[in-house]
Amino acid sequence: MNQFKNDLLLRAALGETVSRPPVWVMRQAGRVLPEYRKTREQAGSFKKLVTTPELACEVTIQPVDILGVDAAIIFSDILVIPEALGLPYEMEEGRGPYFNRVIETENDLSKLSSSDIEDKLSYVSEAIELTTRALAGRVPLIGFAGAPWTVFCYMTEGKGSKEFGRARRMLLENPKLAHSLLSMITEATIAYLKIQVKAGANLVQVFDSWAGVLNKKLYKEFAIPYLKKIATEIQEVPLTVFAKGGWYAMEELAALPCRTLGLDWQMDPNWVRNFTGESKTLQGNLDPAMLYGNFDLIRSETREMIKNFGTQRYIANLGHGVYPDIKPDNLKCFIETIQSS
Ligand code: CP3
Repeated sequence: MNQFKNDLLLRAALGETVSRPPVWVMRQAGRVLPEYRKTREQAGSFKKLVTTPELACEVTIQPVDILGVDAAIIFSDILVIPEALGLPYEMEEGRGPYFNRVIETENDLSKLSSSDIEDKLSYVSEAIELTTRALAGRVPLIGFAGAPWTVFCYMTEGKGSKEFGRARRMLLENPKLAHSLLSMITEATIAYLKIQVKAGANLVQVFDSWAGVLNKKLYKEFAIPYLKKIATEIQEVPLTVFAKGGWYAMEELAALPCRTLGLDWQMDPNWVRNFTGESKTLQGNLDPAMLYGNFDLIRSETREMIKNFGTQRYIANLGHGVYPDIKPDNLKCFIETIQSS
């Protein structure tokens, strides 16, 4: 690992001893930085930013330069997988992602294709190659994908939702179709993560952002087997599974063959440790809303977080993505508190 000037993230993920916990922030690229908004404006649209390797590289490196985080995460989106399968998305300003077509029937599914994922997503590999070169070993680069269940949510619902009623309805009304779609997403995701690793990603994270809308039985049937498949196949670099709201399936999550588990802010680190023992690195989990507080509050909450996790087998982060209206200086205060711990 001595190809890096700062290899704290990799050492922590691998369970090696570190001098302090590494820190990065979910959704650090984009959202809070004025520099990001400027590049995005120049690009004209979110999708243009995602599909232009030079621009994706630029916004990936911004948080490393400006915030001083211990890792970069490639600028992309989890929705590039549906698009590569044949279901294109639109990103509506202020409203989030939107699909003109959704998957409702076997016929809809039959129109998708999981072939040539590498070619269709070559803009991501190019962005990773450029970024790896530009980072020149300063910090590791994280690749990512959505978990099959979360990607399934968008492909069946067509947009964001609080409850994902249509997605859950399919699990009950047509479990066979649901499993076929989940299998297809899983195969594409494995191919996608492998090309990210080949292009230079040093660690990968799977975001199961909508774990919280299922229950233990459904998660065990429709999410865990697919996460297990991904974790089994991706052994080249450390893998983090972040299942937001998935506390009810902690026993199953802790048994996945991945190195690291991400915790949302409602999960207690010591409670999670009881499931994982020292077999896993834990990542998380300050409530992102704490960054609305003043510096004193941010510092004391951050120190308490580190005390609860301990400094080893630990990657500091928020419990979910940083909110778009957080002041960059408050985010910096969070990062600096960890780095001076
Ligand atoms: O972490 C990073 O900084 C890298 C970039 C990244 C984006 N999306 C860029 C983005 C990552 C890791 C994601 C993951 C993602 N995308 C998830 C999982 C993480 C999570 O937050 O739970 C999900 C569910 C999506 C789907 C998605 N993309 C939504 C719901 C939205 C709209 C809301 C929002 O602002 O995030 C997006 C758009 C999106 N993806 C933006 C960015 C920077 C904002 C678009 C803009 O520039 O206006």
